[in-house]
Amino acid sequence: MAFHSDNTLGCSPEILEAVARAAAGSAPSYGFDPVTARLRERVRELFAHDALEIFPVLTGTAGNALAIAAMTPPWGAVFCSGEAHIHRDELGAPEFFSGGAKVIPIDLARLAEAIDEIGSGGRTAIPACLSLTNATESGTVYTPDALRELCAVANARGMRVHLDGARFANAVASCGASPAELSWRAGVDILVFGGTKNGALAAELIVVFDPSLARELALRWHRGGHRLSKMRFLSAQLEAYLADDLWLRNARRANAAALRLAQGLGALMEIVRPVEANVVFARVPPHLRALFAEAGYDWPLFGDDVYRLVTGFSTTDAEIDAFLAAAAR
Ligand SMILES: Cc1ncc(COP(=O)(O)O)c(C=O)c1O
Repeated sequence: MAFHSDNTLGCSPEILEAVARAAAGSAPSYGFDPVTARLRERVRELFAHDALEIFPVLTGTAGNALAIAAMTPPWGAVFCSGEAHIHRDELGAPEFFSGGAKVIPIDLARLAEAIDEIGSGGRTAIPACLSLTNATESGTVYTPDALRELCAVANARGMRVHLDGARFANAVASCGASPAELSWRAGVDILVFGGTKNGALAAELIVVFDPSLARELALRWHRGGHRLSKMRFLSAQLEAYLADDLWLRNARRANAAALRLAQGLGALMEIVRPVEANVVFARVPPHLRALFAEAGYDWPLFGDDVYRLVTGFSTTDAEIDAFLAAAAR
């Protein structure tokens, strides 16, 4: 199971210790606690944005659905890549939370045409939101320029932009841009900043850059059941995640492990996507498929012979070398 998913990994000790510290004594509930207040200030500093608002949630699915719902009316269209988690893996959560918006998977290389096609008809849905993922589901990374270009297409048509950042840390670690450059400065209105895959127990953070969206998000967050009474335990995870650059150190380690794995596998098979974050897609030759299938690495995004391997903050070189040795044998 070593490379099944970054969700199979454990938790950074610094985060567990922060949760234990937050358990002492009592604190105000529902997000009025000092840990959440400190987290807000830290996130404002990290993103160089004094007016952003934060909403900790337990899952990325909830974060995505709440964020999209806050920007999209029931008759709205949400455009995303055909690989997007919101399209393939969330059982219609964005549609449900928005009261019926239509998620439309497209080829993002044709974004302008796709929006204009739907927009000009006026009967399918009204273009309202562009949803992007960085790092992407296929392990590639948008640079600030690439992100800005896509956001500009949406913004020019009066649409909002949601960024699924389940692997945002891996994207920042990969391209070296600042968190601000890879979010609001490129045109992102709401980011869902992932923690769980990269060392948290269970914590994701909705970051709202446009203050005019914060009130609606706050109401949806509460109504959607994500305003935890003991919010300090979620916030403590995220505060420790951002302290001393733990989020970046973990992501750098995960990315480096993916490169090592891809370099080793590349001698035996085709790597089908550039490895820019912590996800590797490999076209596995028939005689090796049993090894990959038994390990549970099937992931039919690019065909039945392409398997997905994911590294994480706690992946060791020994795990990689053992798998490569088994493949070589
Ligand atoms: C790209 C992406 N977005 C969002 C999620 C959120 O997942 P969850 O709701 O399981 O936290 C995941 C998890 O696999 C993901 O890969």
